[in-house]
Amino acid sequence: MLNDTVSPDFFRKDAAFDELYPEHIRELSQMHWTPIDIARKASDFLAVPNARVLDIGSGVGKFCITAGFYHPETAFYGIEQRGELFSFAEIAKEEVNLSNVAFIHGNLTELRFDDYDHFYFYNPFYENIEPDSRIDYTIRTSFGLYDHYSRLIYQMLDEKPSDTRLVTFHGPDKQVPPSYRLVNNSSYSRVLKMWIKE
Ligand SMILES: C[S@@+](CC[C@H](N)C(=O)[O-])C[C@H]1O[C@@H](n2cnc3c(N)ncnc32)[C@H](O)[C@@H]1O
Repeated sequence: MLNDTVSPDFFRKDAAFDELYPEHIRELSQMHWTPIDIARKASDFLAVPNARVLDIGSGVGKFCITAGFYHPETAFYGIEQRGELFSFAEIAKEEVNLSNVAFIHGNLTELRFDDYDHFYFYNPFYENIEPDSRIDYTIRTSFGLYDHYSRLIYQMLDEKPSDTRLVTFHGPDKQVPPSYRLVNNSSYSRVLKMWIKE
């Protein structure tokens, strides 16, 4: 069942959705924000009714807002370290008018992961090891932070109960613990991977 209080026009094309943001944020879309068809496929897999899904590094909220539109029975949360991106996510959420989406401003190291059931992961730490992929210069990046964040998420995922779901988009498989089984069924299977904890 779709969210019938929300205009579907935002979700017809990436260009229409990206109109929610100012020009300099739209320019980052192709490289940094999840395309709508990917967000839809990923959320079809993650959206267990009444579950709480976390986008690890939510940027301007494109994954959570699209997922929340298609799956009103599931709650989608995003954590984002950059204040500016968090603010644009909040503005877009208000504009689209979704009650099952929430954003948190902070670093994922401060989060209580017990509060979330399933996870979306769009290679958020990559800019620490690939300077050409930086979003901006407002945060510190380093190889050390890449390792630190990757280890933290790996351990968190490994401690989750059986049946925890995970979607990775453009993520290295080595960031996923072997306790997760790949259950891909998507036409984008080289870059979009769906996993379930054994
Ligand atoms: C590739 S973007 C993806 C954005 C969003 N998930 C989407 O798919 O549209 C990754 C985001 O993760 C954020 N991020 C990276 N490391 C983070 C951390 N340690 N804590 C919070 N956010 C982080 C970055 O600031 C960036 O906005």
